[in-house]
Amino acid sequence: MIQIQPKQSQKTARKIMVSAVQPSNRLTLGNYLGALKNWVQLQSQFDCLFFAVDLHTITVRQDPKELREQTYRAIATYIAAGLDPNEVTLFAQSHVPQHAELAWVLNCFVYMGELNRMTQYKDKSAKQGQNIPVGLFTYPALMAADILLYQTHLVPVGEDQKQHLEITRDIAQRMNQVYGDELFTIPEVYTPPVGARIMSLQDPTSKMSKSDPDPSSAVYLNDSDDQIRKKLKRAVTDSGTEISYSPEKPGIKNLIDIQSAITGQSTQTIVDSYVGKQYGHLKVDTAEIVAAAVGPIRDRTEEVLKDQAFLNSVLKRGAEKAGARAEQTLKTVFDRMGFIPRG
Ligand code: TYM
Repeated sequence: MIQIQPKQSQKTARKIMVSAVQPSNRLTLGNYLGALKNWVQLQSQFDCLFFAVDLHTITVRQDPKELREQTYRAIATYIAAGLDPNEVTLFAQSHVPQHAELAWVLNCFVYMGELNRMTQYKDKSAKQGQNIPVGLFTYPALMAADILLYQTHLVPVGEDQKQHLEITRDIAQRMNQVYGDELFTIPEVYTPPVGARIMSLQDPTSKMSKSDPDPSSAVYLNDSDDQIRKKLKRAVTDSGTEISYSPEKPGIKNLIDIQSAITGQSTQTIVDSYVGKQYGHLKVDTAEIVAAAVGPIRDRTEEVLKDQAFLNSVLKRGAEKAGARAEQTLKTVFDRMGFIPRG
């Protein structure tokens, strides 16, 4: 497991952390607990870049108006969750063209066989019917570009992205062998001990996903307290009555994981506090804990969203900073590959 570096006083000496969310819909509790919450906790220890990967979303058809709104909403949610826009670099992926440029290069260094093994591709392409966009297949090359452009040390993500991180490391190592060891930093993955895989409230054997067509399967970060209570109350649990933490009771385990990831209490402490109690108690308590965590983020997101001028200035500043850094890496890559320098 990755060792988190102690905070260093020299800003320039801090290691680099990068992560992102697809603004394909409103963010979920899974996105918060698996990713965003950890970004906020780690932000002061690293030199951070966080972005909304709008280019990734178009691997599946998007409504243009909706995509624009969700991209603003994602950045507003990052700020509302506690990322400090004066400390970390926040931007929209499409504002930094180097992502798409490096992705092309990486597409030439990743193999069909590797991409074919990607679980996310298998799941998503199965839902597409006959016409599977090529972008869905080559998606991991764009994600690798997102990471390698910034010479990233650490990528905090949920469990489902680990495979994409492995392929990123493989591509980086392959290119380092050809063009020199220091071309790309090899990134490490960080997943939280609890909360790395929050499950659907309607089917606790599958992941909570923002693209699930059933809105009651996920808590969205802009759900009202009332909606949160209703969704948790209707959460699918398991047969039996005893509250225990076991893979045989995925519905109960999921609620305990949610509580643990939010409160920081161990899963055992939570189980111990329910001796002699029923599933209903666990659901009601989990609903209150989730509402207390999500409520302030929801309200603050709406406030931030009202100030479009502020959001646009954050995005502009972020894209300028990220673009300058990305260009350094891209220049080195192009140079080592033998491209004539641009003017
Ligand atoms: P995305 O948008 O699907 O999810 C964003 C982040 O949330 C995590 N996550 C979850 N964690 C726990 N439980 C869940 N149910 C759950 N659902 C989602 C994801 O693991 C992720 O950390 N390909 C990425 C976005 C991406 C990216 C990157 C991430 C593009 N480029 C570069 C890191 C670095 C994705 O689709 O995430």
